[in-house]
Amino acid sequence: MLCVVIDQQALLLEDRVTPSPGPGHVLIATTASGINAADILQRRGHYPAPAGWPVDVPGLELAGHVVAVGPDVDPQWMGRHVCAIVGGGAQASHVLVPADHLLVVPEGVAAAEAGGFAEAFLTAYDALALQAQLRASERVLISGASGGVGTAAVQIARHLGAHVTAVTRSAHHGELRALGADEVCHPDQVSDVAPVDVVLELVGASNLQLVLGRLAPFARVVVIGLGGGNRLDLDLRILMATRATLTGSTLRSRSHEEKSALAQRVREELLPAWATGALRVMIAGTFPLTEPEAAYAFFAQPGKFGKVVLTQAAAP
Ligand SMILES: NC(=O)c1ccc[n+]([C@@H]2O[C@H](COP(=O)([O-])OP(=O)(O)OC[C@H]3O[C@@H](n4cnc5c(N)ncnc54)[C@H](OP(=O)(O)O)[C@@H]3O)[C@@H](O)[C@H]2O)c1
Repeated sequence: MLCVVIDQQALLLEDRVTPSPGPGHVLIATTASGINAADILQRRGHYPAPAGWPVDVPGLELAGHVVAVGPDVDPQWMGRHVCAIVGGGAQASHVLVPADHLLVVPEGVAAAEAGGFAEAFLTAYDALALQAQLRASERVLISGASGGVGTAAVQIARHLGAHVTAVTRSAHHGELRALGADEVCHPDQVSDVAPVDVVLELVGASNLQLVLGRLAPFARVVVIGLGGGNRLDLDLRILMATRATLTGSTLRSRSHEEKSALAQRVREELLPAWATGALRVMIAGTFPLTEPEAAYAFFAQPGKFGKVVLTQAAAP
C-alpha cells in the first residue's frame, strides 16, 4: 500500500505491506483523507499518535470502500462506501478501521466530501451537542468559523436550532451566512455581539480573550483549538458573575468505546441530514495523495473555507 510517511519533518511516499484486518476491524481502500492541524503538529514532532496506531503515517480521517473484513465482522460491510476517524494512518491507500467506528456515506456524496466529514463533524457535534449541551434557540458563538471544524459547527448549531454567530478573520461572511450563521463578524467586533450561551473556541487564547466578555449567565465555553495560543489572562470574576463553565477536549486520545458511542450519536443525529444535503462538507482544496507537501502548505495558509483533502483513485 502507498503511505504518506513523516521522516524527520519531511513528507515522503512509501510502499508498505497492506495489512489484513483482525477481529473487529475492516480494511478500507481509501479514496480521500482529510488534513487536520494535528497532522501539521505531528509532522513537527509535537503530537504523537496514541498507542495502537501507526506512528509515522499521518491522517485522522478517511473515506473509501471496505475491501476486507475481520473474522468476526459482518461481511455485509464489504464494498460499502464508508468514512471514519482513526487515531492515525489515514493518509494511505489502505487503512484498518474498527468496524464500530464506521459511518456509511450517503449516496451521491463525492469522495472528497466523504473524506473530510468524520473529524470535523464528530468534533463539532461532540463539542456543541454533548459537551456544551447546546439547545434550540440558545445563542452560540463559533470562533474560527471558516475552517473545517468551524464550517461543520455552524451547520450543526443551526441544525440544532441555535442562533449562530460566526467569528472569522477571513472574508467568507457570505458563505458562512449561507451555511446558517445568523451573524458573522471579525474577532475585533466581538464586543458588539449580544451575550451568548455557548462558545465553541477553535482558535484558542487570542479569540477567547475577546469572547469571555460576552458570556450569558450559565454559559458553556468549550475550547478545542489552540492555533491562536494556549495562555490566557483570565479574570476569574467573569466565571463568578456568570456562573459559566469553561472546558475543553481532544478527540484523538479518547478510548475505543468513547469513539464508538460518539459515532453512534452521529449516525443517529447527523447522517440523515447529511443524506438530504442539509449538512454539507465544505471543500477548500483537494490534492492527490502523492502531493502531500503541497497540500500541507495549502492547509497552513490563512483564508481557506472548509476542509483540505488528499484524494486518490480507488485501489482494489
Ligand atoms: N480537540 C479536538 O479534538 C480537535 C479536533 C479537530 C480539530 N481541532 C482543532 O480545532 C482547530 C480548528 O480545526 P480546523 O480543522 O477547523 O482547522 P482549520 O481548517 O485550519 O481552521 C482554523 C480556523 O481558525 C482560524 N484562525 C483564526 N486565527 C487563527 C490563528 N491565529 N491560528 C490558526 N487559525 C486561526 C482560521 O481562519 P483564517 O482564515 O483567519 O486563518 C481557520 O478558519 C484547530 O486548532 C485544530 O487543531 C481539535
